[in-house]
Amino acid sequence: MTKQRTEEWTKSYNDDYFNRQFKTPYRSTVKFCEWLEKIKIIDSESNQKILDIGTGKGSNLYYMKKLYPNCEYLGLDINNDFVEEGNLFFKNEKIDSCKLEFGDIYKLDREKLANKYDGIISYQTLSWLPGYEKPLEELTKLNSNWLAFSSLFYDGLVDCKIELSEFENESTDTPSNKTFYNIYSLPKIKHFFAERGYTKFQFIPFEIDIELAKPEHSHMQTYTEELKNGTKIQRSGPLLMSWYFIIAQK
Ligand SMILES: C[S@@+](CC[C@H](N)C(=O)[O-])C[C@H]1O[C@@H](n2cnc3c(N)ncnc32)[C@H](O)[C@@H]1O
Repeated sequence: MTKQRTEEWTKSYNDDYFNRQFKTPYRSTVKFCEWLEKIKIIDSESNQKILDIGTGKGSNLYYMKKLYPNCEYLGLDINNDFVEEGNLFFKNEKIDSCKLEFGDIYKLDREKLANKYDGIISYQTLSWLPGYEKPLEELTKLNSNWLAFSSLFYDGLVDCKIELSEFENESTDTPSNKTFYNIYSLPKIKHFFAERGYTKFQFIPFEIDIELAKPEHSHMQTYTEELKNGTKIQRSGPLLMSWYFIIAQK
């Protein structure tokens, strides 16, 4: 793989996306945690050490800390501003079990991070990287008991490499933003983990149970549409958002 382009995370990003989750976590975060509890990975009594990759400002850790108060959390992100803002937030809230640090999923500090964590989580990040192979290779080398992700997947032997370009107006040829929205094949991911000793693999589609209004603008923002059978599908711009939660265990 060529080097990851990181501008979309360090130069131009939607601050509101990160900030509003501190007040109201995304439905996917709530449902992801419910699922982890249902399959007996974590509960309110757990005292696990959890590593969150692509943590943003740490809002998901804040939510998890409220649900699982005895766990200890470290969030890694390549955006130093997010790390600083998140740490300030936790300091102001007098929470010392959630810490954020700079960390690049492509170059993790194995000496410091390997064999230290019970679980690794990553919300809404894997599909926004150029691919899954190198990031998952790095993460499996940290040797945690389990790794769980919310991202875009497909329950078949098809991988989609999707890179979108967003434009300010129709006369510009230079996109104002470029982002990946890759969809990864679940059987391929399952095989990838199994080859690295994570032989137990579970997944579930994230079926949203609330309505999200279609935005006025035509840029990327998730909204729901109801099918005849009552199922809600999620769209964002031109894409169908095939959200899944997955977990790999030893
Ligand atoms: C779509 S955001 C999701 C943030 C957060 N998990 C959430 O659910 O709000 C993706 C995050 O991954 C971070 N990121 C992108 N590339 C990364 C890398 N190579 N290593 C670590 N974090 C990365 C971005 O800075 C951003 O905060």
